[in-house]
Amino acid sequence: MNEILIKNTTNAFEEKFGTEPKTIVLSPGRINIIGEHVDYNDGYVLPAAIDKVICFAFEKNNSTTSKIFAIDLDEEFEIDLNSEMKLNNAIWTNYFSGIIKYLKEAGLSFEGVNCTFSSNIPIGSGLSSSAALECGFLFGLKSVFNFEISKKDMALMGQKAEHWVGINCGIMDQFASVHGKKDKVMKLDCNTLEFSYHDANFSDYSLVLLDSNVKHSLFTSAYNTRREECEEGFKMLKENFPSLKTFRDCTTDQVVEIKDKLSPNVYKRVDYVVKEIARVSLACAALDAGNIEVLGQLLFDTHEGLSKDYEVSCAELDALVGYAKDDASVIGSRLMGGGFGGCTINLIKKGQEEAVKEKFAALYDKEFGIELKAYDVKISEGTSLYKG
Ligand code: GLA
Repeated sequence: MNEILIKNTTNAFEEKFGTEPKTIVLSPGRINIIGEHVDYNDGYVLPAAIDKVICFAFEKNNSTTSKIFAIDLDEEFEIDLNSEMKLNNAIWTNYFSGIIKYLKEAGLSFEGVNCTFSSNIPIGSGLSSSAALECGFLFGLKSVFNFEISKKDMALMGQKAEHWVGINCGIMDQFASVHGKKDKVMKLDCNTLEFSYHDANFSDYSLVLLDSNVKHSLFTSAYNTRREECEEGFKMLKENFPSLKTFRDCTTDQVVEIKDKLSPNVYKRVDYVVKEIARVSLACAALDAGNIEVLGQLLFDTHEGLSKDYEVSCAELDALVGYAKDDASVIGSRLMGGGFGGCTINLIKKGQEEAVKEKFAALYDKEFGIELKAYDVKISEGTSLYKG
């Protein structure tokens, strides 16, 4: 699948710029098994990179202007490296300007490039195509100009670019895109950025993403509000329990103890965060021990929390998880990523995948009149050099 993408990206480069690109980079989207909305709350997450990627072709152009061509949109963007980086109405361009802005601020030296890129990561499906964009572009510049930047710093710089564009996200997406490893999930400590790889062995079950095909416009503002609500909640927890350093030190009893001091929404958010942080460790232990049914139940529990307490679900995602609960072949399901649309992640009994996809697609079409898309997940390498 990626061979076609690589060929198209290379051909477009040759057509546009008249030379063969010396550097080709593949940068993946990500899934997350569990640990949602806890990366910016000092929790743990369990993501992995997948085989859906953005392909970039690069070549130095010996000038101080970068020329970037978005093949899928048929749009072109030029960045004068000597000018101040500014946000632009064409959202995709901002991720590129953001990376250049922070590379300059970090004092790294580079010049203009010609670049084409094309993607097979579905946009707006919660698979983090924006992190793939940031990390892939950055990785390409690093390769072309040989500058030293660690994987960890690449992820952090990608996150900064995302903040600049307007989402106050955590570190999970960029970290997973950069550090992905074939057939492994990573348990990432979002406080220290230490991580460990775990076998992505789901025994008798397959991981399948079901794409609700909706993206509600609430996403950005609600995301940033959740983050503020959590900060407010933690401040109150700390005032009452000064020894607490981060959310991960909190117990559910402590949350209940200060319930009256929090607004109902802040209470629900904080309660969800403390429980979700605990669920990630349980889930990782269940995965390591091959207790996939236990893992599945934890996914259902996470969805319940995301829907009722964190309130980042929507009717379409709740319905998809509802179908899963009613089907014995699906042992776990939840919304994945930021919410308000995008995909659910599902653990489906091997051999039953196609039957489940067909059944759910019919139910979903009947209920919402929307086509349900399904993606089989292959856990793959992180951002890497294909050629160069
Ligand atoms: C988005 C953000 C991540 C993370 C998830 C929710 O994908 O970019 O940092 O917060 O939502 O877990």
